[in-house]
Amino acid sequence: MKSVNYTKRNKMNNLAVKLLLVLAVSCPVMASAQQYDKVVSGSQSLANKICATCHGAEGKGNPIVGAPRLAGIEPWYLRNQLHGFRADYRGREKDYTPAYEMQDSVARMSDQEIEDVVAYIATWQGTENAPTISADANRGSQLYLGCAACHGINAEGNEALAAPGLTGKDDWYLFRQLKLFQSGYRGGHPEDQTGQQMRAGMAAIESEQDIEDVLAYINSL
Ligand code: HEC
Ligand code: HEC
Repeated sequence: MKSVNYTKRNKMNNLAVKLLLVLAVSCPVMASAQQYDKVVSGSQSLANKICATCHGAEGKGNPIVGAPRLAGIEPWYLRNQLHGFRADYRGREKDYTPAYEMQDSVARMSDQEIEDVVAYIATWQGTENAPTISADANRGSQLYLGCAACHGINAEGNEALAAPGLTGKDDWYLFRQLKLFQSGYRGGHPEDQTGQQMRAGMAAIESEQDIEDVLAYINSL
């Protein structure tokens, strides 16, 4: 009797183990597929209905509202900036409207929503916008020597230093950012460590002519 009971129980146990295995294998797959659908549609509508209203369809940029191109932006840099806007150290000066508006639109985003939007925006491609600045690229190449240590010889960016790539971005936007770094409107907050590094890194840039020349060189890369 004992042995029969034993084998019976054993068989049932086997069945239970098999069932558990089937469940264990299929459930996470089902759950993650559902989650994925939810994440993709949620981040898609957030990006297309909110971000794209200012940054243009597929993030191609919109100079009229001052919102730069997002297509092609590095996911890690995009994430850093969204956290910076949300934490209020980028765009905190309420008299500087463009960044304030941007900050307003990410203020209530959760960490997960930021991750989802970053993943979705990585799928935006699109062609680059035409340069708007023409200045002395030769002189700019000399000025750029001081930038290369962080942004790379070809301005390709350096994730380890949190310095983004600078090619393929809107030059009118970069011009404004360099002015903002100079004045401390960007990178002036004690919590904004990468912004502070950037401010220190551009100490050799003084005049608007310097800014235009260095951007003309970056445009040529
Ligand atoms: C109300 C208009 C508006 C909306 C909505 C908006 N942005 Fe912006 N965004 C801007 C403007 C304007 C700037 C430029 C800020 C500046 O000059 O510093 C900007 C800047 C940025 C930057 C900085 C780019 C860089 O190279 O550092 C990122 C990243 C960004 N936006 C992402 C987003 C994402 C993602 C969303 C959607 C969740 C979004 N924005 C929604 C207007 C907007
Ligand atoms: C010490 C390293 C360092 C040096 C040197 C440096 N940068 Fe940066 N730069 C950074 C970092 C880090 C960031 C990202 C700041 C942030 O997270 O907001 C940045 C951001 C920028 C941005 C903003 C990009 C955007 O999409 O908004 C521009 C433009 C820029 N740098 C141009 C320059 C130029 C031009 C020079 C040389 C004159 C230079 N940088 C020198 C580290 C540096």
